[in-house]
Amino acid sequence: MLLHVQDLSIRLKTNPQHPPLVSKVGFSLDHNECLGIVGESGSGKSLTCYAINGLLADCFSVEGSIRFNGEDLLAQSEQDRRAMRGKRIAMILQSPMTAFNPLFTIGNQVTETLCRHLQCTPQEALAVMANTFGKINLRDPQQLFGKYPHELSGGMLQRIITSFAIALKPELIIADEPTTAIDYISQREVIKELQSIRDLFQTSIIFISHDLSLVSHIADRVLVMNRGCVVEQGPTAQVFTRAESEHTRYLIDTRMQLITRLRQMTSPAHAA
Ligand SMILES: Nc1ncnc2c1ncn2[C@@H]1O[C@H](COP(=O)(O)OP(=O)(O)O)[C@@H](O)[C@H]1O
Ligand SMILES: [Mg+2]
Repeated sequence: MLLHVQDLSIRLKTNPQHPPLVSKVGFSLDHNECLGIVGESGSGKSLTCYAINGLLADCFSVEGSIRFNGEDLLAQSEQDRRAMRGKRIAMILQSPMTAFNPLFTIGNQVTETLCRHLQCTPQEALAVMANTFGKINLRDPQQLFGKYPHELSGGMLQRIITSFAIALKPELIIADEPTTAIDYISQREVIKELQSIRDLFQTSIIFISHDLSLVSHIADRVLVMNRGCVVEQGPTAQVFTRAESEHTRYLIDTRMQLITRLRQMTSPAHAA
């Protein structure tokens, strides 16, 4: 087993008497497995993942345990966590722009990150990245290296972030709503890339999304959160076809209603 989260609770230090924002969350993830996390906005999906990656701000207190290859992440020093972040646990966030420094070119940021984690020269870093771009059909690496983040689309930036994940071969990728802020075509590309990373390196993935159809495509198992708690978890097909929790059925029904409405709006009968 790669990751084992047990009784994870997260509170604001300033509100110790309030109910926790994340409450006794537990799940595990195997090597080469993809876990989908779904739930409405504010249900605690991001906080859970920030806790795993050691990115929670100081204003939060954390209880429980997070074991990664048997090692308790919550007991690690900040220095150890920093060495692990990006290299062994990579995170792909909703807004790709925030992952880049606007003042530096893509090439600068590639050399900065890869040299630090792979202990290589800048030339080697760029060669590794150019090779990775080729694997996911990103053309003309030299031209991309010369661009600043604002000169590229959100979809393009998200694909470059995915390339970092391929180049660094992490054991776990946490993708927190990676497709929410990008166009439909790029969404499909990012999903395809995550799947090919899995096929190539047997990487485990936590895929967070409120798009249930994307989750059903990519995840082997699904965890449903509501108000900081896990309300259901199980194999994807089982959760989507025979949900036990009322909240899961509510999420699925809401999604179905939206699809039906969209179909009606785009059908020829409606247009006439
Ligand atoms: N920095 C913060 N300060 C106070 N409350 C926060 C902060 N970040 C998140 N929360 C609260 O914690 C809960 C869970 O948030 P989050 O994990 O971001 O939800 P999700 O990712 O599922 O949309 C929400 O109620 C949110 O308002
Ligand atoms: Mg979130």
